[in-house]
Amino acid sequence: MFDFSFSWSAAFLILFVLWSKEFSCNAVETFASRSYFYVGGHYENTTDGEVMVGQMYAEKLVPLKATQKYPLFFITGVAQSATNWLNTPDGWEGWNSYFLCQGYTLYLTDQPQRGRSLWLPSDGILTNYNLTFVQNYFTTVQEAKLWPQASLHTQWLGNGTPSDPIFNQFFASQLQQQSNTTLTTLNNVHASISLLSLIGPAILVTHSHGGPYGWGIADAVPSLVHAIVAIEPEGPPFVGEIIAHGPARPWVLRICPSHMTLPFRIPES
Ligand SMILES: *[C@@H]1O[C@H](CO)[C@@H](O)[C@H](O)[C@H]1NC(C)=O
Ligand SMILES: *[C@@H]1O[C@H](CO)[C@@H](O)[C@H](O)[C@H]1NC(C)=O
Ligand SMILES: *[C@@H]1O[C@H](CO)[C@@H](O)[C@H](O)[C@H]1NC(C)=O
Repeated sequence: MFDFSFSWSAAFLILFVLWSKEFSCNAVETFASRSYFYVGGHYENTTDGEVMVGQMYAEKLVPLKATQKYPLFFITGVAQSATNWLNTPDGWEGWNSYFLCQGYTLYLTDQPQRGRSLWLPSDGILTNYNLTFVQNYFTTVQEAKLWPQASLHTQWLGNGTPSDPIFNQFFASQLQQQSNTTLTTLNNVHASISLLSLIGPAILVTHSHGGPYGWGIADAVPSLVHAIVAIEPEGPPFVGEIIAHGPARPWVLRICPSHMTLPFRIPES
């Protein structure tokens, strides 16, 4: 799928050599045992025969001294995979290292239809983000100024463009995603419920596009969700702003129907 021109391949090779020299082995990691498995798949007959669909790759990391009662279940944002939490694009310890050190057992996943989880050609359309989009919305938003507060952005490490090896590591890690948000939410909520049914109550750590999944999971299986830590969760309620526009998240912050009635009122203005 990757169609880099010769100069891009050469640039990536040079960057990789630089990266491996400059960025590897500078983190003090907590030793953890690792295992992986799949949850949530079911068999379906298609025109190409019987296949399994809806499954989600799950990876379990257990520190030598697991001291915390509830494990952390990390749910990634758009275009990300389980690698998102392992280390940072500039090779520093990631959140996983930090929480393993705190004695937490961790579960990482590749969302259904992304990364190590199967996408079936008959199951919706995959999309991906181009360079301009990633710069405008994530790494150099202060220059694109697509929303009023964008000019205040200072949090991206490095210059946020292809002249920076840190940016290239991040951009290279971006994956395809299901374009149908309803489908991707249903798939994620179902597979996550399967995971929780297997492992018991956990603390959900959701990021960005994964935010609405967390509310949907807690709504469906409240006894299996000890807490939710939502990092810049997708919003606002009911409408899309900035990246998408128009009606969205029809059940307040959820994309799929709620089983609970939340006390809220629509402001008059
Ligand atoms: C698929 O079709 C076969 C043959 O008819 C059948 O034995 C099997 O149970 C079907 N699988 C599902 C998941 O419906
Ligand atoms: C990059 O992606 C954005 C958002 O999908 C799109 O609007 C834009 O046309 C794309 N740019 C190019 C050069 O295709
Ligand atoms: C998105 O997926 C949902 C659930 O499968 C389906 O009902 C809906 O028709 C799909 N929307 C589009 C635009 O394909």
